[in-house]
Amino acid sequence: MKKDNYEAPNIELIQISTIGKHSILNMNTSSVFEEVEDIEKLIEAHGSPLYLLSEKKLREKYREFKRNFTQDGIKTIIGYSYKTNYLPAVCSILKEEGAYAEVVSDMEYKLARSLDVPGAEIIFNGCYKTKSELSKAVSEGALINIDNFDELDLLDEVAKNLGKKARVGIRVNFIMGSSSWTKFGFNYETKEAERALKEISKKKNLKFEAIHNHSGTFNVDPKIYSKSTRIIIELAEFAKKIGLNTKIIDIGGGFPSSNKLKPEYDIPGGSKYNEETLKSFADEVMYYLKKAKHLFNNGTPILVLEPGRAIVDECMQLISKIVSKKKDPKGGYNIVVDAGVNVLPTAYWYNFEPKIANKTNGIKKNGINGVRKTNGNGYNGGPVKIYGPLCMQIDSINESVNLSSTNVGDTIVFSNVGAYNLTQSMQFIQTRPAVILLGPHGSEIIRKKESWRDIFSLDTIPKRLSSKSNGKH
Ligand SMILES: Cc1ncc(COP(=O)(O)O)c(C=O)c1O
Repeated sequence: MKKDNYEAPNIELIQISTIGKHSILNMNTSSVFEEVEDIEKLIEAHGSPLYLLSEKKLREKYREFKRNFTQDGIKTIIGYSYKTNYLPAVCSILKEEGAYAEVVSDMEYKLARSLDVPGAEIIFNGCYKTKSELSKAVSEGALINIDNFDELDLLDEVAKNLGKKARVGIRVNFIMGSSSWTKFGFNYETKEAERALKEISKKKNLKFEAIHNHSGTFNVDPKIYSKSTRIIIELAEFAKKIGLNTKIIDIGGGFPSSNKLKPEYDIPGGSKYNEETLKSFADEVMYYLKKAKHLFNNGTPILVLEPGRAIVDECMQLISKIVSKKKDPKGGYNIVVDAGVNVLPTAYWYNFEPKIANKTNGIKKNGINGVRKTNGNGYNGGPVKIYGPLCMQIDSINESVNLSSTNVGDTIVFSNVGAYNLTQSMQFIQTRPAVILLGPHGSEIIRKKESWRDIFSLDTIPKRLSSKSNGKH
């Protein structure tokens, strides 16, 4: 062999954490929601990428969540966290199920009202609420969870001007390690929360009702909620002593979904999610709440929960096409798909393990029993790196996953994408996909695919620069 032709073997440390046992076993196909008769037809009609929303799954997840947190002697209210996914169709379905709206901005507040959510069924959270927003919320009877002393004074003034008492709660935070969410609310450890309660007790225009905590998002340890419930109850006891009756205990959201966190965001060994997970969270809360019934009117506390991802993550899928592939110099393949972090920003936190869709009307198209044959492109399985379509190296969806094919034109399915992907999607370089609702009436479009004109519809060019007006170009 001539020296020139010699290729040195490429030996490299493969980190188990980036592959993961699920990736290695993930060779199955046909994973599009069962309601879809023909995924290729949907793509033909609405383009790729494409989001799918399963109404059945959404309703099931809502009911499962509520069931887990329901017990005799406690009134449970679900305040769905709009920011997680504010597709009007999603919010409407959850309203129909009985959910209140948990909003953190004027935009979300107005959306809730446009969907006929009564003011009294809106929980207004967040650290930035303007005078006019507060004014609207007070006059419509929304519950406002006060974030800071400036807001407390502003709200009192707003309510006074309206001649109407504002329904209020306080948001509290507590320390639980370096990632504590102390940006929001009054601190427990420094007794700021007690000071806020004292201030409220002196204000004639504020009607105290609630103590609220939202400790973080994708909490994997149920003990966070026992701590949160205990702190809220302790503050409710303090409130009672100074003449304030607590009606509502609001423990926020933050409950996990079945997505897999990347190892760097997860507990060592990886957190587990199964049918018992939600119950283990509910048990922590109920244990302390049941012991504190004496604090509440008629002995019945109102428990408010503000779930987002735990309800909506699993009800959506993102369908995408493989647009190109190339051999990775280090081995395996790199593929580019038409959905990147622009429409799947949660890929920064989650290990998505997409599958190849090969189902048409339930008939397996390729290969036997739904498993594709080797596709003749030299790919025989093995790790694939998935990139999105953006012109940035960081547009990477998965560093190493096994797919059953890498054929250009193949349709791949990302599951559990309902939370934070649409609301945090970017109009960067690419337009955003359509959304299809799969419900009792078959498939219905609930968001059109964006066109390039939609992106620029709010822009104007000063006349002096417009080639059409000055005719110089
Ligand atoms: C106040 C509040 N409630 C509820 C939620 C929903 O959180 P998650 O989607 O983790 O359940 C959030 C999200 O950060 C929030 O800030």
